Formats: sequence, C-alpha cells, structure tokens
Amino acid sequence: MATSTQGFEGGQIFNRTELATRLAKQVLHVSPTSASSSGLFLAAPRRTGKTTFMRADFAPALESQGARVIYVDLWADRKADAGEVIVAAIRAELAKSEFTLTRLAKSIGIAGAKLGGVDFSLDRIGLGRDVSLVQALAALSDEAKGPIVLIIDEAQQAITTQQGNDAMFSLKAARDDLNAAHFGLRVVCTGSNRDKLAMLRASKDQAFFGAPLIDFPPLGEDYVKWFCDNTTDLPAKLTVELVAPLFRQAGNRPEILGSAADQLRFDLSLKLEDVERRFAEVVEGQIAQANDDLLDVFHSLTPIQSAVLRVLAATGKGYAPFESRTLEKYRTALTDFPSDSELSSANVQQALTALQEKGLVWRAARGVYAMEDDSLSDLLKREGYLEGLDDGTESTKPPTRRMRG
Ligand SMILES: Nc1ncnc2c1ncn2[C@@H]1O[C@H](COP(=O)(O)OP(=O)(O)OP(=O)(O)O)[C@@H](O)[C@H]1O
Ligand SMILES: [Mg+2]
Repeated sequence: MATSTQGFEGGQIFNRTELATRLAKQVLHVSPTSASSSGLFLAAPRRTGKTTFMRADFAPALESQGARVIYVDLWADRKADAGEVIVAAIRAELAKSEFTLTRLAKSIGIAGAKLGGVDFSLDRIGLGRDVSLVQALAALSDEAKGPIVLIIDEAQQAITTQQGNDAMFSLKAARDDLNAAHFGLRVVCTGSNRDKLAMLRASKDQAFFGAPLIDFPPLGEDYVKWFCDNTTDLPAKLTVELVAPLFRQAGNRPEILGSAADQLRFDLSLKLEDVERRFAEVVEGQIAQANDDLLDVFHSLTPIQSAVLRVLAATGKGYAPFESRTLEKYRTALTDFPSDSELSSANVQQALTALQEKGLVWRAARGVYAMEDDSLSDLLKREGYLEGLDDGTESTKPPTRRMRG
C-alpha cells in the first residue's frame, strides 16, 4: 500500500506508487494478445485526482521503467485548439534536443539547422506542415531509444475540433510507425466522462478503435488514512471510521475533505469533543452547497433549454437531438410550459448552443452531444427531474422547484 508523502507543485499529496507501477507495466508491456498497444483510456469523475495521479505518480513510474513521457493537458488553455496543444507539446519535446532537431531537419533536406535559428523553425512541424507528427515522433523515438508514452489529459477535447481529430489520426499513424519500426509509442488518454472517451475508440473510423477503456480507481481508505494522519492541527484527531463514509458521500473528492479541515482550523472556539460532529456537518454542508450551486444554474435556464438538457441527461449515450422521438420527449418535458410548446429543430439547436456556452453541454466536432458533467445528470435524476424522460413514457413529474423563463 502506498502511503508515502512527497512534495508536488508545492503541496503534499498522497502518492499511489503501487497503482502507478502496475499501470505503467501494463502500458509498456504489450502482450501479443492485447489491444492496449492501441492506447489506453482511463475515466474518472471530475475532481477525483486524475491529473495529480498522471503527473505525480504515473509519469515518474513510466520514466523509471525506461519510457520517455510527454504530458499534454487539453484543458490547460480552454481557448486553444486541442490539435494545436498536442502539436505544441511534441514541438516542445523536440526543442529539448538540438541534435535530434538537426537530424530531423537534414532528413527533410534542410542542412545546418539551428535550434531557434532561421534555418529550421519549429513551426515547420505539425499537421499539414513540412514535418509530420509521425516524423517528429519517430525522431524522438530514435533519440530516446525506448518507448515514448504520450499522456493526453482531458482527451475528449481532441474530438471537439477538426484539428484535434486530425491530431488523433496522426497519433494513430505515429503509433503504428513507432511500434513497427522504432521504439514504440503508447498513448494514454484520460477524461471525466466515459461516454465521451468512448467516442475516441468506438467506431472503426476513430483513431484508437478498440483500445481498452477502464474506470480509473478512485482514492480509497488508504488516502483517507493518510488524510487523517496528516490533519494534525485540530483539537482532536480525525478517524478513518468517521471520514471514510463522508469521503464516499463526497464523491471521493479530496478538496471537500481539505476545505472542511480548513474551516475547522479557523474555528477558534472548537472544542475537542465537537471535532467529529462539526467535521461531518461541514462536509455534508459542502456537498449540499455544491448541489445547490448546480441546481441554481439549472433553474436559470429557459424552459426549452431546460427540456433539452433534461432529455439529454435522461438519454445519455445515443442522444439524437433532432429525431422525432426526441422532439416528442422535449414536448413531454415542456408540458408545464404550454406557451413554449412550439418546438422546432431550430429552437433545439439554439438551446443546445446556449447550453454549450454555459458549459453544461459538450459537443464533438461531428455533432454528437453529451452532458459536460455527469454529476449534473446524477443530481437531476436524484431530484426527480428526469422521470418519464428516459424510456419514452408519457408522464413526467412536474419540476418540484422554481423555474425561471
Ligand atoms: N493523491 C492525492 N493526494 C492529495 N490530494 C489530492 C490527490 N489527488 C488529488 N488531490 C487533490 O484533489 C483535487 C483535484 O485533483 P485533480 O485536479 O488531480 O483532479 P482531476 O480529476 O484531474 O480534476 P478535473 O476533473 O478538474 O480535471 C486537487 O486539489 C488535488 O490537490
Ligand atoms: Mg484534471
């Protein structure tokens, strides 16, 4: 069990060394009967520690097993095109070695390349440029003389733009080339929504067809123990028995525990005997607050936006926004608002665009929609807003809360 602590960008985290080592081994060792040389997809809900694990545990584990790691976060800059971000990461890796860059330049007929010089600019590497991603990664592979692992965090963003899709196809070509003739390329993708990640591997014309998609294990009791052991500045020690169920209730999100401990730290009148009760109250309060915040956004939608969102949330995978069956469901969801029962495809399109702008709905470049955050679907379901919408039945429970138009 991994229980060590180590500095990570200024903070202390719970390291998951054993999990990282095991996963790294699986990714690097490809058996003849495995499809994981296609890449590996890891899904886990928002704010549960994917990025922390990738950077603090997984990348070092891969490196210690001889791989060269390139990490790309497609959410690092929400405005940048995902394709550009992937290209930039590969360029940056190449820029680390003047030798490799020079050799690459010579291979395309530019003699005497200089890093940062006029003879060969990094701009010449990229999609549709002089040097393709395949050539760039092959050059890196020959330099590394070992496998390269490209970790793409929030990989679903790649299929929201044409350039991102193109980058994924280039990576597939690079993987085939490096696995056949160089030292191997593995692509590991993470994301917070299974359905979205599945689109990167589901159909034959997708770049990573058939690659395994697994649920990334959430932080568990060993993390909770580490948290209790390291929360030493409260009047009483927290126990795993108290915190573990609260952590599960909080969707395994470390921040909720962390900020509850902070609140107690600043409660100067807190007595030893009240620590456990107060900690539980604060965690539960935070969960309720997070849900209220989500519902506030939901209640600020127009009736059509609300109907479209609820039908999407209820349908999930396979949602077809403009099919007559789906239009029927919007009407069911709209029964409380007769004035809005005029419903056209244009209205639906407008609502989807507005929902996308509000960050509630996600759209792949080829027009497939999904909920941006699964936790909103879960919450709407728990609150009864999706009743009658998921199986084509007529009745829908009228919303129990206020609706603004
Ligand atoms: N192993 C850990 N030990 C301590 N804290 C952690 C650990 N993993 C994650 N956290 C904390 O939880 C929060 C969320 O972590 P992180 O950003 O890695 O999650 P994520 O799943 O990548 O989130 P997002 O869905 O926003 O991308 C951060 O504040 C981070 O410090
Ligand atoms: Mg993340």
